[in-house]
Amino acid sequence: MGRVLNCIVAVCPDMGIGRSGNLPWHPIRLSKEFKHFQKMTMTPTVEGKKNVVIMGRKTWFSIPAQNRPLKNRINVVLSRELETAPEGAHYLAADFSSALRLLENPELEAQADQVWIIGGSSLYKEVMESSAHQRLFVTRMLKQFDCDTFIPNIDLDKFRLLPEFPGVPAGLQEENGLQYVFEVYECVEQ
Ligand SMILES: NC(=O)c1ccc[n+]([C@@H]2O[C@H](COP(=O)([O-])OP(=O)(O)OC[C@H]3O[C@@H](n4cnc5c(N)ncnc54)[C@H](OP(=O)(O)O)[C@@H]3O)[C@@H](O)[C@H]2O)c1
Repeated sequence: MGRVLNCIVAVCPDMGIGRSGNLPWHPIRLSKEFKHFQKMTMTPTVEGKKNVVIMGRKTWFSIPAQNRPLKNRINVVLSRELETAPEGAHYLAADFSSALRLLENPELEAQADQVWIIGGSSLYKEVMESSAHQRLFVTRMLKQFDCDTFIPNIDLDKFRLLPEFPGVPAGLQEENGLQYVFEVYECVEQ
């Protein structure tokens, strides 16, 4: 079996994930939500290894420059246009399957643990519609913000909502006046 592909995303009720190159709720900061993202994407299952984060070019540039690359993770950026990895990124790939093939090179394979897809929309869509073994870590914002970037609805014939998941807080979360819940979906064996 190939690697599990973990997607992590925070969505508005209309499945919006971004606006004008930023998160929809920008400039509101959700530090507990961000810490959850950091913890999930940064913690390897095997000591001494590192997780891999795969993202589109716009998501890479939406990260403040001082926070790039995402620390303690192998950062892979996807672009069809760029010829070299943007400054600070560890790897560039021209499409998603090339990004996964990179992980098969012996040096990276020995070092890389979990794979996390961190956006944006076309990448989430490609992974959600693929036949790989996927897990979706979804933060459901309960308030709607204007969005210009969306992901598809989660297909409940394909994914089941897990009742709980280690390390993922259950129940209603609230900070800065915004309420949200953490959900984890796993693809159903086809
Ligand atoms: N709410 C969340 O959890 C979340 C997470 C991530 C991002 N966001 C938001 O989403 C927005 C950015 O996402 P986006 O969907 O607009 O852009 P994106 O996917 O981050 O970047 C799009 C670019 O990435 C490259 N790319 C994407 N998929 C590719 C593929 N399969 N193969 C090769 N290259 C690929 C292309 O770059 P080239 O044009 O260079 O070829 C494409 O133009 C921002 O507003 C950001 O804040 C939100």
